[in-house]
Amino acid sequence: MQPLRCVLRVQRALHWGPWASVSRLLLSTCGAHSRLHGTACPEAEDPPPYLTADELRGRQRKVYLETYGCQMNVNDTEIAWSILQKSGYLRTSDLQEADVILLVTCSIREKAEQTIWNRLRQLKALKTKRLRSRGPLRIGILGCMAERLKEEILNREKMVDLLAGPDAYRDLPRLLAVTESGQQAANVLLSLDETYADVMPVQASPGATSAFVSIMRGCDNMCSYCIVPFTRGRERSRPVASILEEVRQLSEQGLKEVTLLGQNVNSFRDNSEIQFNNAVPTNLSRGFTTNYKTKQGGLRFAHLLDQVSRIDPEMRIRFTSPHPKDFPDEVLQLIGERDNICKQIHLPAQSGSSRVLEAMRRGYSREAYVELVHHIRESIPGVSLSSDFIAGFCGETEEDHLQTVSLLREVRYNIGFLFAYSMRQKTRAYHRLKDDVPEEVKLRRLEELITVFREEATKVNRSSVGRTELVLVEGLSKRSASDLCGRNDGNLKVIFPDVEMEDVASPGLRVRAQPGDYVLVKITSASSQTLKGHGLCRTTLKDSAAQR
Ligand code: 5AD
Ligand code: SF4
Repeated sequence: MQPLRCVLRVQRALHWGPWASVSRLLLSTCGAHSRLHGTACPEAEDPPPYLTADELRGRQRKVYLETYGCQMNVNDTEIAWSILQKSGYLRTSDLQEADVILLVTCSIREKAEQTIWNRLRQLKALKTKRLRSRGPLRIGILGCMAERLKEEILNREKMVDLLAGPDAYRDLPRLLAVTESGQQAANVLLSLDETYADVMPVQASPGATSAFVSIMRGCDNMCSYCIVPFTRGRERSRPVASILEEVRQLSEQGLKEVTLLGQNVNSFRDNSEIQFNNAVPTNLSRGFTTNYKTKQGGLRFAHLLDQVSRIDPEMRIRFTSPHPKDFPDEVLQLIGERDNICKQIHLPAQSGSSRVLEAMRRGYSREAYVELVHHIRESIPGVSLSSDFIAGFCGETEEDHLQTVSLLREVRYNIGFLFAYSMRQKTRAYHRLKDDVPEEVKLRRLEELITVFREEATKVNRSSVGRTELVLVEGLSKRSASDLCGRNDGNLKVIFPDVEMEDVASPGLRVRAQPGDYVLVKITSASSQTLKGHGLCRTTLKDSAAQR
């Protein structure tokens, strides 16, 4: 492999944040351009001086994309693919026939990164075995791990040809073109304004009933344990108009559910136009503070949610992942009132101990969090709640842990995501705190949290037995071809037999429900993760809301 080449035109970029440590990497003209001028970089038609337009084209080479980590990564995969497709690449789902393999990676915990290192070892074999006649196989690391480790990846795994951080996907055609001459290529520049607003992600499966729409990127919260602000950069929101346009298109394609996505989805703030930038102060949830200077103005999440939910009354709207600090009354009221906004809120608590929450720099106490839970339950009767928790954070005592157990019992979440603390370099906890809870204690505490969460979720879910739930059908159940699988308003999986049922729109007609149909299901049994029942009738979202 030849040494890395440096593009002189952007030498100035060496003085900026992420570039300071990557001077050996191939510098990005595109990233620098968008950072300086706030504009999108030109696509394949406008090559940099050292490449021809033809070199930028994919020339039918086949790309295999593999996604790890969160929903943002799933969406980013489709953004990356949309950019490559426009450049003349083809997509393959067969690893063996790929000319380019791109891994969209996650850095949130050590284990997530370990999975990628292991995968790279497997891919190395594929690369060395490849017949010369097929041309070289190119391997790229995209996303958070590229951003966090930068050249360490290129040094450690010489078979990696390309690195692209979360804000550099527009640059993929150029980076791939550079790898053609056997050089490694990288762009890990973070942007203040990249939202890929004009890149419509290609929806992966044509028969899908739901889609994700990215509305904001990055995070300004700097929770002390979290790597995300370092890998995904500053918070920025996509202009409302482009989001509405994408949702409209999805509705026209017949999709029945949209999940608005962002690292802090409810901190949304579109200040792309001057008239949005009034001095209206931000209403935070009661008892919550921010780690940054309070922002003002812009079109906020309540406005966006209102507009999105008006596009298609038969389209369910969800959002993830929010921060508990940004649930002002106007958001809660809207969720409570609007039939097609799901009554489901993810409310990441992280810990039940105020002392640990302070060390985590979450900006709230246990009491403020519990008060918010009560306020949400009053504003949105029947709301389903989910949460994230971390077991064994720095300095967590047995008493702190028991406080988390008691919060799980007190709130009774429907869905939970529970993790053992994994120390991440660069974070405040790494620099200032001690990762002093032994691994086996972390794992024991995690097990205890999982057990308590399951017990409580089973109890809440059992309270649905005998009730009728509106289910959006996704397809056949994976476990049995004679059952259908879908989700209720609270996003819980519901399984029911695939038999003929009445159709509310055409009385007398008996139909088999199809993916994308709404079915009223009578719930007959429940576990911690699934509900089971039988279908009563095919209906519409509007009809079922009118009957409530
Ligand atoms: N260790 C363990 N879990 C973490 N999370 C974020 N950072 C870490 C870490 N260093 C969890 C939080 C967050 C979720 C997405 O991942 O619970 O809400
Ligand atoms: Fe990480 Fe906290 Fe930002 Fe979530 S809010 S991405 S946990 S820093």
